[in-house]
Amino acid sequence: MTIGFFDSGIGGLSVLAEALRRLPAQDYLYMADTLHVPYGTKEKDDVKAYVMNSVSMMMERGIDALVVACNTATSIAVNELREVYSLPIVGMEPAVKPAVEMNHATGKRVLVFATPLTLQLPKYYALVSRVDEGGIVDSLPLPELVRYCENLQFDKEVMAQYFREKLADYNLDDYGIIVLGCTHYPFYKKCAAGASASAYSDC
Ligand code: DGL
Repeated sequence: MTIGFFDSGIGGLSVLAEALRRLPAQDYLYMADTLHVPYGTKEKDDVKAYVMNSVSMMMERGIDALVVACNTATSIAVNELREVYSLPIVGMEPAVKPAVEMNHATGKRVLVFATPLTLQLPKYYALVSRVDEGGIVDSLPLPELVRYCENLQFDKEVMAQYFREKLADYNLDDYGIIVLGCTHYPFYKKCAAGASASAYSDC
C-alpha cells in the first residue's frame, strides 16, 4: 500500500515521521508544492486550486490513501477532495480540542499558533465554537514562520527573537498549552515551549 503525503513544503515531514514510526512497512509518496509555498498568506481560492492540482498529480502516480499533512490545505480543500476521490483521506486540524480538555484542570488559557489562512477560515471558527465553552482559547497567526522553516532558518538567536516579538503582548504565565496548528511549526517546538516558560534558551 502506498500512502501519499501532501504539504505545501517540508511541514508534512513532521507528520510523515510519525507515520513511518507507526507504519514502517508501508510505501510512501511525499509531495511538497514548493512552487507555491507558503499557502497561509495567500488567497483561499488560489490555494484550493494548488491543492487540487497537486493531489491530482499524486493520483496519477498511484496512491492508495492520502494524508493532507497541512492544516491550511485541509481547511480549504479536504471536503472537495473527499467529493472528488473515493480513497481514504486524512486531514489535519489544530489540536484545540485535546488542549482545552487538558487545560480544564489547570485553569490556564490555550494559545493556538497557525497560519493566517487557517485562523480565518470557517472550519477553525466552527472548531473553537464547538470545543471552547469556557472562552479560554486565544489564536495567534504566525505568517512568517513557514517561510523561515522552508529557508531552514533554525538559528537559535534569530528564532528566539522572532518568538519574543510575536509574544510580547502576551502574559505567558496565563497559558498552560500552546497548540502548534501548522505542520511546519513542530520544527520550532522547543522554541515555542521555551517561550511558554519565558526561557527562549532552547530553540
Ligand atoms: N504546513 C502547512 C500547514 O499546516 C503550512 C501552510 C503554508 O504553506 O503556509 O498549515
